[in-house]
Amino acid sequence: MKLSIFAAVLAALPLATSSPTWGPGKGPYGPKDKYPGLAVLAKRAGLQYFGTAIDNVVLNNTRYVSIAHNRSEFDQVTPANGQKFVHIEPQRGVFNWTLANQVIKPAKKARQSVRCHNFIWHTQAPEWLEFGNWTKKELVSIMENHIKVEARYFYDTCFSWDVVNESFNDDGTFRETFWYKTLGKEYIELAFKFARKYTSPRTTLYYNDYGIEKVNNKSLAIAELVKDFIKRDIPIDGVGLQGHFRMATAPKYEEISASIAQFNKLGVETAITELDVRIELPDSPEKKAKQAEGYANAVKACVDADDCVGVTVWDFWDPVSWVPYTFPGWGNACLLDDDFNKKPAYYAVSDVLRAAA
Ligand SMILES: *[C@@H]1O[C@H](CO)[C@@H](O)[C@H](O)[C@H]1NC(C)=O
Ligand SMILES: *[C@@H]1O[C@H](CO)[C@@H](O)[C@H](O)[C@H]1NC(C)=O
Ligand SMILES: *[C@@H]1O[C@H](CO)[C@@H](O)[C@H](O)[C@H]1NC(C)=O
Ligand SMILES: *[C@@H]1O[C@H](CO)[C@@H](O)[C@H](O)[C@H]1NC(C)=O
Ligand SMILES: *[C@@H]1O[C@H](CO)[C@@H](O)[C@H](O)[C@H]1NC(C)=O
Ligand SMILES: *[C@@H]1O[C@H](CO)[C@@H](O)[C@H](O)[C@H]1NC(C)=O
Repeated sequence: MKLSIFAAVLAALPLATSSPTWGPGKGPYGPKDKYPGLAVLAKRAGLQYFGTAIDNVVLNNTRYVSIAHNRSEFDQVTPANGQKFVHIEPQRGVFNWTLANQVIKPAKKARQSVRCHNFIWHTQAPEWLEFGNWTKKELVSIMENHIKVEARYFYDTCFSWDVVNESFNDDGTFRETFWYKTLGKEYIELAFKFARKYTSPRTTLYYNDYGIEKVNNKSLAIAELVKDFIKRDIPIDGVGLQGHFRMATAPKYEEISASIAQFNKLGVETAITELDVRIELPDSPEKKAKQAEGYANAVKACVDADDCVGVTVWDFWDPVSWVPYTFPGWGNACLLDDDFNKKPAYYAVSDVLRAAA
């Protein structure tokens, strides 16, 4: 059902436009003026959730918070930073849940589900860990203890965990992180084994990375990793495609679909875990329209796939996006503008979801 409607809509719809066509009454897809919220529409379209990352720095902004925890818009939440190693275990064996709980507690109260994020990554690691000159044995024991304590603390909280983030270079070789240098590529499977051992059996375990929204050397390498894990009975349930795109070069619908399919056909699920589409400033209506296309294509590819379970945007409000800090000259990557107005991208995503219902 949802596929045939999509096919019809796609056929009728040239997505590439030179001027903005999205907005109440302007969207080409469906009823003109009904925008009940992204999560409401996502559920109708067959996704498990539509979510957002939430960072701690804006929790004093009541307008932001009311949207972030509005279950009609977002029924899933990812703590953007609070669960990074440096915040969770700032000293060896000393755990601090403050930042994570600032996001997770209100999410649970609002009955939003939580994707947890992340056990093992090479960045945002504390100095004691990164520069500790650990032996193999010590580092394995640090990893196991970190995963054990955190997994138990959030046992009933996380329906999904990003276990390992960004282990590969763009050419498909292993990234030379401190984990890799000390433990070799086995650190990845060790993390998954520990995660399976200590998280709830209901929690799905993900490998997460960027730049894999096309079939390329990196995504092929990750597909090989998944294949190898499955063959050797190493637990893995899903691959997260981050979806950090640049407006002008965002991958096409067919490209994203093909990458999702290469994982789904191995028997693991997928999710779009960190979607945003950044604009080279200054912004313009034409750029916003192009951005809307980037968002729409990614969401459409997920909705149409066999086993893409949901979409998470990497925050929904332009002023809190990580983009301007990381990519000077770029910005306005989110669904809502500075004044919380819904941008063309918001309407485009809504219309895509509505068409799939
Ligand atoms: C939540 O979002 C929906 C969809 O945008 C909106 O209709 C509703 O008024 C919001 N609820 C609150 C309490 O703000
Ligand atoms: C929230 O806090 C930040 C700094 O911590 C400040 O810059 C901002 O103005 C505050 N916002 C509100 C709405 O109070
Ligand atoms: C835990 O983290 C919070 C937020 O960063 C910080 O304010 C607090 O001092 C930390 N607690 C301890 C015991 O270090
Ligand atoms: C992975 O890395 C990206 C940076 O590319 C970061 O934004 C994100 O928070 C990290 N994700 C996880 C799961 O740690
Ligand atoms: C790790 O080794 C480097 C180089 O030998 C040394 O400079 C550094 O002080 C050591 N760090 C620790 C925490 O022992
Ligand atoms: C992929 O890797 C092969 C070598 O293994 C190389 O020839 C090719 O240029 C790479 N492709 C891309 C897009 O990086």
